[in-house]
Amino acid sequence: MTLTYRGLLISLVFAASVAAQGSRSGPPKPVPRGLPDAPGKEIVQRVCGATCHGVEIVAGKGNTRDNWTNVVNGMVARGAKGTPQELGDIVEFLAKNLPPRTGAAGAGGAGFIGAGPDDAHIVDLAAAARGKSVYTAECQNCHGEAARGTKDGADLVRSLVVLKDRYGASVGSFLKLKKHPTQSGRASASIEGDQAIDLAHFLHMKVAETLRNGPYSQPINVLTGDAKAGQEYFNGAGGCAKCHSVTGDLAGIGRKYEPVMLQQKFLFPKTLGFGRGGRGPTLQKPVTLTVTPAGGKTVTGTLVHLDDFNVALRDEAGDYHSWVRTASLKVEKNDPYAAHVEMLDKYTDKNMHDIVAYLESIK
Ligand code: HEC
Ligand code: HEC
Repeated sequence: MTLTYRGLLISLVFAASVAAQGSRSGPPKPVPRGLPDAPGKEIVQRVCGATCHGVEIVAGKGNTRDNWTNVVNGMVARGAKGTPQELGDIVEFLAKNLPPRTGAAGAGGAGFIGAGPDDAHIVDLAAAARGKSVYTAECQNCHGEAARGTKDGADLVRSLVVLKDRYGASVGSFLKLKKHPTQSGRASASIEGDQAIDLAHFLHMKVAETLRNGPYSQPINVLTGDAKAGQEYFNGAGGCAKCHSVTGDLAGIGRKYEPVMLQQKFLFPKTLGFGRGGRGPTLQKPVTLTVTPAGGKTVTGTLVHLDDFNVALRDEAGDYHSWVRTASLKVEKNDPYAAHVEMLDKYTDKNMHDIVAYLESIK
């Protein structure tokens, strides 16, 4: 139990340090105790509280939705018990009530936040995918598909409003204070709250795409792929059909994710993120271990710790087991994502686009 608790602390501290990367001003503020009063609080207290006692550890740390999902995944790997629905509600609660740099996005008219390179906006892909639909409906005609501007609207990738934005703070106040045109004619000030935040994620993704050759920079125009060729690859050379079926586990996959997320999910299935319409988080499948001591009983469970010297797992009943590694101790590791990692070296660009086009057609 002690080890588990320490493991959880480590993951929380890690998540917090990710979230806190930016705060260069002054000493850390005192951590508020307790969780905000909002729907979902009891579930967080019950599921997290039972495992790690200090729910207060969670409170006071801002985080992106993806990082919160990471934290919750970490808790599950360490024995937190909850139904997928409950775990989804927990991520929802944390992401909503404890966003990164609390106050920035939520404050609405807080104005433009001056920010250095060390507190970069962290793009949440799922939010960006949602932001894209707002952008397409309200902004794209004037600002262009890549947000690089047209004769009717400014280049937003180079806009200071966007570059200085963190989690919708500047973009939201710009739309609120400026009475800006929109495609549908709705008041720009009505694009606020979650919508402004999503839009900001989308615009920051466009900036990242332009600035560096990151994973967002691959063209994600699904029309460039050939769905038929994708289907052949899926059932043939790609070997996808060995593990998946488009009428089974991948049924409706094209409805579940926006194309950008779909590509991300199949290239890096570990990517944490939400489906269309903020549908529940996809939780990571844990890495499992099978350990057989010489002459002893085989134990299988979720990996808690593995290095050259020690191995520890948690079995289905929630019991913790650990061993010192010796030559006679047999340890088998099963990483459900290993196949996907290996495949990254094998696809050509064409394969990737064909697969996205094919999966996108599975509605
Ligand atoms: C009818 C065309 C049109 C539409 C629709 C439109 N914009 Fe603009 N936008 C412009 C023009 C023109 C400018 C430059 C003049 C200005 O700042 O008002 C601009 C400027 C901006 C700027 C400031 C750029 C800078 O740094 O000076 C932002 C941010 C922006 N738009 C965001 C949006 C968003 C977000 C939407 C969708 C919700 C949107 N715009 C919809 C035409 C449009
Ligand atoms: C050895 C087994 C294996 C092979 C081969 C494999 N996958 Fe997967 N795939 C997985 C596992 C395991 C996951 C994770 C499922 C989860 O997290 O629930 C996954 C996840 C995915 C997801 C995300 C599903 C979702 O709902 O989020 C997609 C899409 C996907 N794979 C597509 C493919 C494609 C396309 C191929 C062939 C190029 C392929 N996979 C080959 C095992 C495999």
